[in-house]
This record gives sequence, structure tokens and C-alpha cells, in this order.
Amino acid sequence: MGPGPSDVAPRVLASLARPTIGHLDPLFVALMDEIKELLQYAFQTSNELTLPISAPGSAGMEACFVNLLSPGDTAIVCQNGVFGGRMRENVERCGATAIMVEDDWGKPVDPQKVEAALKEHPEASVLAFVHAETSTGTRSDGAALCKLGHEHDTLVIMDTVTSLGGIQLKVDDWGADAVYSGSQKCLSCVPGISPVTFSPRAVERIQARNHKVQSWFLDMQLVMGYWGGDSKRAYHHTAPVNALYALHETLVILKEEGLENAISRHSRNHRALVAGLEAMGLKMAVAEAWRLPQLNSVCIPEGVDDAQVRSRLLRDFDLEIGAGLGALAGKTWRIGLMGHASRERNVILCLNALETALKAEKFSLESGAAVQAATDFYQSL
Ligand SMILES: Cc1ncc(COP(=O)(O)O)c(C=O)c1O
Repeated sequence: MGPGPSDVAPRVLASLARPTIGHLDPLFVALMDEIKELLQYAFQTSNELTLPISAPGSAGMEACFVNLLSPGDTAIVCQNGVFGGRMRENVERCGATAIMVEDDWGKPVDPQKVEAALKEHPEASVLAFVHAETSTGTRSDGAALCKLGHEHDTLVIMDTVTSLGGIQLKVDDWGADAVYSGSQKCLSCVPGISPVTFSPRAVERIQARNHKVQSWFLDMQLVMGYWGGDSKRAYHHTAPVNALYALHETLVILKEEGLENAISRHSRNHRALVAGLEAMGLKMAVAEAWRLPQLNSVCIPEGVDDAQVRSRLLRDFDLEIGAGLGALAGKTWRIGLMGHASRERNVILCLNALETALKAEKFSLESGAAVQAATDFYQSL
């Protein structure tokens, strides 16, 4: 129950053991077509250029930046946590200029500041933001930010590593142009795969480039030769065949449950966890409207030893929760309820375990109140 990787479903683990076939085998090509369709469903898009990059979320991030930026370009980058900072690194390594729009960690990206930056920098060709900041457990308003980007004629890059499959994410309705995610969060697949999708506008920008993409591996014009979908698929790199079996199985499970049902399940378990944490006397770190149900940031109470609590949970309960990152290190815990791990059983386990660990720290609480509050919540539904 950390910030990812989340628990992988047994069906997905079993799929990894299927025989490894060639990455151009007709059966594998059929599986690639299915993966593309299933990813289009997960992202809620009809973008043709939708595929899993054979590398983790950071490679998906890099794929978006290196393909859409050239030296001398300007990008507006929103930062309200760790991953906005990684975006800036990407922009600068493309030889472009990053105009930073900063918000406090634990607060959403402020659309008014973004609008002001877009007005001040009409030369910007890209707006980039993190939809679900894993470092703080904060959601930003994806629809509003994409709209602003379009009003000011920029392409919009959106990080959905932690949002895909856990909260509403509507790539086409919002008009996001380059979107990347990760396999290891709400999809609950093995780590190391990054689903990406590019809008027709983004593809046009890629095709009009007159400066070679600095990364051979992530150059979408080359990757399209393998994932492009026509009959002339050509070798680009050896795809991680078994990891893609796992991604396929994961996406089939998501389709079987239904995206809306998966989103409701994340919300329900989050609300039960919050009811329990508050009954224990703990405070959430993020305002209710912007909390991520899949990643719950909790303030560490005064006098409680962060590391002691986390190591007790791991040692005595086999339970991992995340530490705060960057500006929030030592101030918050991050409790994941992602994908397959977003279950009532885990909520109750976590509340019980945390209660025991906090009692050992002499934190004063009412025994049993947390589990009772979560149970009452489930029963009220
Ligand atoms: C919001 C966000 N973006 C990007 C990444 C990078 O993904 P990866 O660690 O799979 O490279 C992460 C990883 O946790 C993330 O949470």
C-alpha cells in the first residue's frame, strides 16, 4: 500500500508464465492490436498513436517531450511536486526553455497562474502538467488545464502515471495531446511499461519536425514502424513479450470490471480509509476536493517517529506504506489504494496495523474507532 508498484493480480502474474513467442509472430501482432484497443478504452481516446512504450513511466514522459520539443522551443511546465521537476529536466535536455509555474506541494496546479504564464509567453508551444502528483497525493484539474493550453495554441502534455484507471481521465474530451502513464499504479501490472497516446495534432507536429529527435529509442516516427498498425510492421526493438502479456491481461481485467466501476471502487475504499484515519485522530494532508483516492497523504502527528512506524508496519504486518517525498519528507505518509490493492480488506488491515504502530509511539487514540468508522462507512452504502 505504497505509492506503487501496487499488488499485481494473480491472473496477471500467471500470464507472465505463458511461452515467449517472437515479437513479430502473427499471434503477438494480434495481441498488440488488442492492447492498443484496450489502451484506447483506458485512456478514453480514439487516438491512432496509442501504444505501450517498452520502459517505465519516465520513458513515457521523455517520449512526449523529445518528440514535441526542439532546441529553442519554449514550454510552460507546472510544478506542484516531484514530477513537475522531472518534466523541467526533460524540457531543458531538449535544448528548450522551461517557464515554471509553481504551486505549493499538496495544492493543485492553479489554472489562473497557468493562464497568466500562457499570456506572458505567447511563444510557448507546449504546456505540461502532472494530473495526479504521486509525491503529494494531489489531483489537478486536467480538463481546465487542457482547455487553457488549447486556447493559447499549445500542445498539452499530461502525466497520468498515477491517474490512469483510478480517477476520471478523458483524453479526447479534455483534448490532451501527449499523455503518458505507468503500468505499476492503478493498472496493477508489473512495472516497466509506459502506455502513451498522441493526438492527431501531436502526430502532425512530430511529422513536421525538421530536427531529429534526440533519442533514437523514443523517436515516435521510428516506433510507429513497429506499433503503427498497418501490415508492414518492422523490427524496431525486441518488445518485452511477457510483460506485454501481463499488460494485456491487466487491461482485460479493467475492461471486465468497467472503467467507471474501477473508479467508483477507488473512491469508495478511499472514503472508508479517510473515515478510519480521521476517527483515529489523524489529518489528511490534501484538501478534500483535490485528494487522490489511490494515494492518500496523511499528516504525521507531532512526536511520532515516521521511520519507526513504517518499519513496524513492514516488519509486523508485511505492510508497506510510502514516506513523504521532497518538501513533504518526514511530514506525511502516502497510503496507496491502487488498482488490485484498492480493496476493503486492505483498508481494514491498514487501519488496524496503523493503530497498533501509533499506540507503540504513545499516540493517544480510541482503540477500535478507526476500523469501526470504516466499517460503518461500508455498511452505509
Ligand atoms: C506522476 C509520476 N510521473 C512519473 C513517474 C515515473 O515513472 P517510473 O518510475 O515508472 O519511471 C512516476 C513514478 O512514480 C510518477 O508517479
